[in-house]
Amino acid sequence: MKGIVLAGGTGSRLFPLTKITNKHLLPIYDKPMIYYPIQTLADAGIKDIMVVTGGRNSGDFLRLLANGKDFGLKHMAYTYQEGEGGIAEALGLCEHFADGQPICVILGDNIVEKSIKGAVDAFRQQERGARILLKEVHDAGRFGVAEFDGDRVAGIEEKPAVPKTNFAVTGIYMYDASVFEKIGTCKPSKRNELEITDVNNAYIKEGTMTYSFLDGWWTDAGTFDSLMRAANLVQQTRGAAATPATDTSHGE
Ligand code: DAU
Repeated sequence: MKGIVLAGGTGSRLFPLTKITNKHLLPIYDKPMIYYPIQTLADAGIKDIMVVTGGRNSGDFLRLLANGKDFGLKHMAYTYQEGEGGIAEALGLCEHFADGQPICVILGDNIVEKSIKGAVDAFRQQERGARILLKEVHDAGRFGVAEFDGDRVAGIEEKPAVPKTNFAVTGIYMYDASVFEKIGTCKPSKRNELEITDVNNAYIKEGTMTYSFLDGWWTDAGTFDSLMRAANLVQQTRGAAATPATDTSHGE
């Protein structure tokens, strides 16, 4: 399976932090944001990775990531999104790289605590279709929101004013090769973007969408509050891991 990290867009919600650099190069605690999604893919055993960049700082991604040595990779692929035509548009640029193989896509501003290997392995067993990762949240209206029919996902609404459930669609998606055909049929949304939610709904309509629940905490980092939250979560998790376990045994 090939991996794709989407790091295009202008990061306008973080202006002026993004006035002279790309959102995905901003720090999350002790590393640049883009390190986290790449590490998530590498930890799931995905070693062939393309990064989609954009804007005026795309050269900085090459200088920072080079051939992916920091992640145990031998090679990294890059492509460039002109403008900000949406997540599905950015993904559409990776058709040649995907070369007919299944792909695991992660948004460049999505940070997760735990491994996604279980879901990736489940998708490896899936003959066709797509798999999304869901997480229960208290502010579902900020995200794509899944609704269910029994234990099947029946539809996804993008940033609904009144969410039907608390299950957010995280920015981690697995697709078979038909994703590029589906992107080709998407029309620009009200915010003038090709929406990944439309692509996911096409799989749902086809009856080939599956899902897993994401383990551990998850956050995006595209607003001032979520950027801060991401740093705090990483710091707390590192701190907890670094604290030596207290020896509670007695009387030996
Ligand atoms: O974080 C999960 C959410 O991400 C999902 O629940 C939503 O369904 C999905 O639409 C998306 O929502 P956002 O509105 O928060 O996405 P945003 O525009 O912030 O873009 C997220 C990342 O996608 C961004 O860090 C880089 C990449 N991207 C985005 C756009 C618009 C691109 O590579 N190119 C683009 O043109």
